[in-house]
Amino acid sequence: MLFQRVKPLDKILETAEKHALTRQLGALQLTLLGIGAIIGTGIFVLTAAAAQKAGPGMMWSFVIAGAVCAVAALCYAEIASMVPVSGSAYTYTYAVMGELLAWTVGWALILEYAVAASAVSVGWSGYFMGLVKSATGFELPTALAAGPAWSFTGGIGVDFTHGVFNLPAVIIALAVTGLLMIGTTESARVNAVLVTIKIIALTAFIALTVPVIDGAHFEPFAPNGWFGNGNGSGLGIVGAAASIFFAYVGFDAVSTAAEETKNPQRNIPIGLLASLGVCTVFYLLVSAGAIGAIGAQPTALGVQPGSPEFMAQCQALATAGTQPLVCSNEALAHVLRMINYDRVGDMVGLAANLALPSVILMMLYGQTRIFFVMARDGLLPEKLADVHPKWKTPHKVTLITGIFVAIAAALFPVGQLADISNSGTLFAFFMVALAVLMLRIKDPNRARPFRTPMVWVVAPLAVIGTVFLFFNLPFEAKMVLPVWGAIGLVVYFLYGYRKSDLARGITGPEGGPRMKDPPSFHEGPHA
Ligand code: ALA
Repeated sequence: MLFQRVKPLDKILETAEKHALTRQLGALQLTLLGIGAIIGTGIFVLTAAAAQKAGPGMMWSFVIAGAVCAVAALCYAEIASMVPVSGSAYTYTYAVMGELLAWTVGWALILEYAVAASAVSVGWSGYFMGLVKSATGFELPTALAAGPAWSFTGGIGVDFTHGVFNLPAVIIALAVTGLLMIGTTESARVNAVLVTIKIIALTAFIALTVPVIDGAHFEPFAPNGWFGNGNGSGLGIVGAAASIFFAYVGFDAVSTAAEETKNPQRNIPIGLLASLGVCTVFYLLVSAGAIGAIGAQPTALGVQPGSPEFMAQCQALATAGTQPLVCSNEALAHVLRMINYDRVGDMVGLAANLALPSVILMMLYGQTRIFFVMARDGLLPEKLADVHPKWKTPHKVTLITGIFVAIAAALFPVGQLADISNSGTLFAFFMVALAVLMLRIKDPNRARPFRTPMVWVVAPLAVIGTVFLFFNLPFEAKMVLPVWGAIGLVVYFLYGYRKSDLARGITGPEGGPRMKDPPSFHEGPHA
């Protein structure tokens, strides 16, 4: 019975049509939107964690994660062009697999978006403090500069030696939340400027590091092998791929803009694939440049980045006057400083400081949007999505989300947050790939403006790829998804199961949505 609670595709399209946002985005803007959401903490910061896990072999990690994203993006392109409405993976699942699974996807997307916002806040904090130190020599007390280090082997351990509360990360997360609450949106033009800044920074990095690549830095190529110690440690080239997957997350933001896109059938697939393609090329060159210029320099092998043991090793190395790439909180700026481009390193740091808040904004915005659509379907309390009379934003849900994002940013290291975010994202991508296949069987004659090429190869590869990466995440990130999912099921049966529109027989625009849409993300600032 539960699985039969499917929201008919035509009804979803009708609802969207009735509440249509202005269709104003073209292929180029969508591609820029994608790049704006993709390039962030992953490449600027987590390159260091990937180097610790995989050594120079992290270049393969970027290829593997990029390949899984490419097949997932081809699936997204088909379904987003068929169902060009808000809500992304959640909405597609609602149409194909029914309410219960849609709820679990929406619930997992909280991990994707909210936890990613926390991760990017922590990434920003590292660059911010690096820049302040470089410019003024000022350093925050250790306790306020980072969260504690967590270990999850043999029970949960927390170590406050190297940090207690990441103050800058909390400030940036709350600042972005405040901006979103009062209705600041990022216009397509501001996004284009920030994308340009990021592209210039990465291009400068590549231009300065690639010429000084030293082949000796690629030896030993895979100090932790492909799978670490083979016990799902999350180490090795594949473990690093599962983590660095975070660097590609965000291309799905393109599909969330479907309702605001001109000719979405053509432009959504272009935006998805072009943004992912451009970022992949940059990432491969940046990782080759970083490793080639100074080497991966892992600390002791088999040690998880961010763990108490790792932090102690980095501390000991710093005391001895060595600063390996893997210990840096500002990986790209660090590489440039090590090859004597201090000023350019600072400029790259500045670029990260300017551009990362927009990634936080997109992630937080995506989160509130998903909540909004879920509340519109009656799966969350309508009150939560109340639109503020003056600001015209879903201020309550934005504030609640922002507070949680700030707390997580205060207390966890960037790599662990990224891994947790990845677990939710991989689940959503997995469900989208399945939905594409199921729709091909259930509704073969529906118009498909973009057809995933070789779908019976590509979609199964996306399914296998997402499962594969998921199982190579570190233990704690793998555990978060089922635990979070179980909490979600309790919430569903206590609330959405009885209250959803479908439960109450409301299936389309005639009954709902009962709420006015909040303003579009791309409309520009509100008066
Ligand atoms: N891909 C985004 C980043 O790297 C989430 O920050």
